[in-house]
Amino acid sequence: MSIMNLKNNYQDIIDFFNANVSNENNENLDKDNEIKVLINYFQEDFEFESEDKSYEVCDFLNEDSLNRLFKNKISAIHIPNYISPNICDKIYNNIEQDLSDEKWENTDMFQGYGLPVNFMFGPTANDCINYFSQVIPIIRKLRSISGGISPVDKLRLELDEIWPDGSKITNSNSFKRKAFVGLTRLMKPDGLVGNETKKNGLVHIDGPLKGTSGSGTYSSNIYIKTPSDGGELCIWDVSLSSNSSENLDNLQKLLNYAFDKNFREEIQSLLQKILPKPIVIKPEIGDLILLNSCQPHAVKGFQNGVRLSMQTFIYFENGKPLDLYS
Ligand SMILES: [Fe+2]
Repeated sequence: MSIMNLKNNYQDIIDFFNANVSNENNENLDKDNEIKVLINYFQEDFEFESEDKSYEVCDFLNEDSLNRLFKNKISAIHIPNYISPNICDKIYNNIEQDLSDEKWENTDMFQGYGLPVNFMFGPTANDCINYFSQVIPIIRKLRSISGGISPVDKLRLELDEIWPDGSKITNSNSFKRKAFVGLTRLMKPDGLVGNETKKNGLVHIDGPLKGTSGSGTYSSNIYIKTPSDGGELCIWDVSLSSNSSENLDNLQKLLNYAFDKNFREEIQSLLQKILPKPIVIKPEIGDLILLNSCQPHAVKGFQNGVRLSMQTFIYFENGKPLDLYS
């Protein structure tokens, strides 16, 4: 079905974007200056304190480990062999020809299969319509390829079974529509960027570093294909209590510019210098990793093979079902 044909069904989205057109475009000079000030701020022999938290390796998803993750007592949960390599191979072989060649701007990641939640926010109504119109077809296609429940179905069902408040695909957005889950993202050596980042990955956060108590954004990844060497996940458990509020605020600002076209390499090598020693997890095919994605994290580069992961965010809020979206 073409986008034009869908427009009648998505009139609410078109109306929303028409009413919320943004006209701001003169912020670049201020931004460059702010970045330079931030880089200078951290120049001397500075190093952030770590929380010395760790991560748990579990045979199964379980409520206790999830509780520790959501209360920020641990940085990640690693469940090896969550999905059989056979299903992972089936998925890879079926979607390989449909994997997008489009890169995420200024990153080392190809968009892969499915559209990320950023598209929900435009910049045009068509981006948003594209996002919502792929939700059900792709979720069902992945289920059908898997010959039963898909990896992300399994995750959602098990979270619903074990988490007292349940788990669901979110519809908490301006359009009250169901989000996509199970975004398959691709990394391969010819997409890696920069010098520092080619080896050590792009350090970033997916939510506010300081977070708020009783809620937070976590990320799940199921690994469909992994390189034999490299591709490790690094997580920096920067302490929120031992580091000063000012330093954390400036780190947050620096991370906001982690992918900046002009300053990316400089910012990334500075981050590698000022962050404490990371937790490093090497995922294998079929593994599931849940992590606190408000902590700085990155994926190390690799020279051979591809790394395909099925990613879904998990938004936790006390007393509410876990909200899933990609
Ligand atoms: Fe991330």
